[in-house]
Amino acid sequence: MPALRFSVQNTSKATDLKTPCVILPVSSSGRLDNDGKALNRQCGGVINAAIASGEFSGKIGETELVHSASAPERVILVGIGEGRGDRAALLRISAATARALLASKAKDAHFLASPLKLAKADGEWFFQTLGRDLVFHSYRYDATLSAPKPEPTLRKFSVSVTESANSRQIKAALERGGRTGTGINLARELANLPGNHCTPEYLAREARKLARTSDKTSCKVLNEKAMADLGMHSLLSVTAGTVTPARLIVLEYKGSKRTDAPHVLVGKGITFDSGGISLKPGAKMDEMKYDMGGAASVLGTLRAIVDMKLPINVVGIIAAAENMPSGTATKPGDVVTSMAGITIEILNTDAEGRLVLCDALTYAARFKPASVVDIATLTGACVVALGSHASGLYANDDALAKDLLAAGTESHDRAWRMPLWDDYQKQLDSNFADVANIGGPGAGSVTAACFLARFTKDYRWAHLDIAGSAWNSSPKGATGRPVGLLTQYLCDQAKA
Ligand code: BES
Ligand code: MN
Ligand code: ZN
Repeated sequence: MPALRFSVQNTSKATDLKTPCVILPVSSSGRLDNDGKALNRQCGGVINAAIASGEFSGKIGETELVHSASAPERVILVGIGEGRGDRAALLRISAATARALLASKAKDAHFLASPLKLAKADGEWFFQTLGRDLVFHSYRYDATLSAPKPEPTLRKFSVSVTESANSRQIKAALERGGRTGTGINLARELANLPGNHCTPEYLAREARKLARTSDKTSCKVLNEKAMADLGMHSLLSVTAGTVTPARLIVLEYKGSKRTDAPHVLVGKGITFDSGGISLKPGAKMDEMKYDMGGAASVLGTLRAIVDMKLPINVVGIIAAAENMPSGTATKPGDVVTSMAGITIEILNTDAEGRLVLCDALTYAARFKPASVVDIATLTGACVVALGSHASGLYANDDALAKDLLAAGTESHDRAWRMPLWDDYQKQLDSNFADVANIGGPGAGSVTAACFLARFTKDYRWAHLDIAGSAWNSSPKGATGRPVGLLTQYLCDQAKA
């Protein structure tokens, strides 16, 4: 996708604007402020005509494109309701602006911000959101179509702010948003790619490609032999049934001092989850290509923070494998020894995410991390519990949980904390190993997290179950979540 350049002008005088397309927020009262009136005069009254005709009512999120005989040739009216809206309203305004502007095919557009009357606390937040939305809504999937879809036309986006606002900060907010959007779109693309394209080795190539874009990044990929040497027999049990080789991908970003403890992100990278010998039913099995959504979010987040040059150290670890049935596949009842030495009875081969994650989480300890967050499309039970609006959050550290919840709220990529009480642990008791890989019918998302908790005792750790939030079933497609949350979290850590 071609780059989108952001700028901020310190004028709101319509006559000073050189762009062929102006976006004007309009309240449901239909009254224009001075900037709006000036723009209306310059366009020969077409704005007031659209409002007076009743075509455009100013409801939140409503948009209308009006043409003018004199520059700017096009004005996009965006409804803002009563004005001075809360963040929920601003989110809708931002998304509507992005959609309408991209649909207009403009190359260069200017956003006249004064009618929004943004509160000081909301200014940077709104423009970060808008920067993200402009990039987010530019995404098209065409990787496996015979003909590419037309590229978005928008190249330049400028904003006018009032004297009092700091234009440097607004520009930085737009850019931060844009980079977040680029990371989100990378995660969407990877999760949308089918399993025969996006294999573990494909993810490894993507990680190496990302590492080549900055001298602060490096990438190491472990093959199955290297994993066996480390004792990762839990992870390897998942790949036993497939001819597609597994990979453990380690992507390091050093944005600050060598000695600063890194934040580690660990992604579940099951590039296709058939369930293995505990085969899934056929309906919707195609969607299990997105079972590497956690891995995709690790790469997307690293893409964003490398581009932002955040002064922080981050390690991304991806446990990538395909879960297939065959004569060599792991069988229900098999017992394996994990890298941590904990033996695991595999009662259900479809509970494979925790099997790859536990070894990756054990590996994470070598980085002496400041925090570890794993991200996984881990359980159908999480979809039952929370649907698609919230990711399930589990943590062994309250301060870490608080930071992640706050980052989710700020980025509108929300999580909801779930219990990790020891009371649930006995559901994982096994007669034949230290732990079973399933915990029975109750609280499936909790017992999956409890399984992981046994491998994460040595550091501050959180787990995000994104089974519901990472994918839309209609229209089918990856959401790129929780790249927004994770990027915000790391931005907050870089400031702290
Ligand atoms: N990848 C699935 C979880 C999943 C299900 C994600 C639906 C998105 C939508 C995971 O590997 C899985 O199969 N989990 C099992 C666990 C069970 C066997 C304990 C599940 O949720 O059914
Ligand atoms: Mn599974
Ligand atoms: Zn899975």
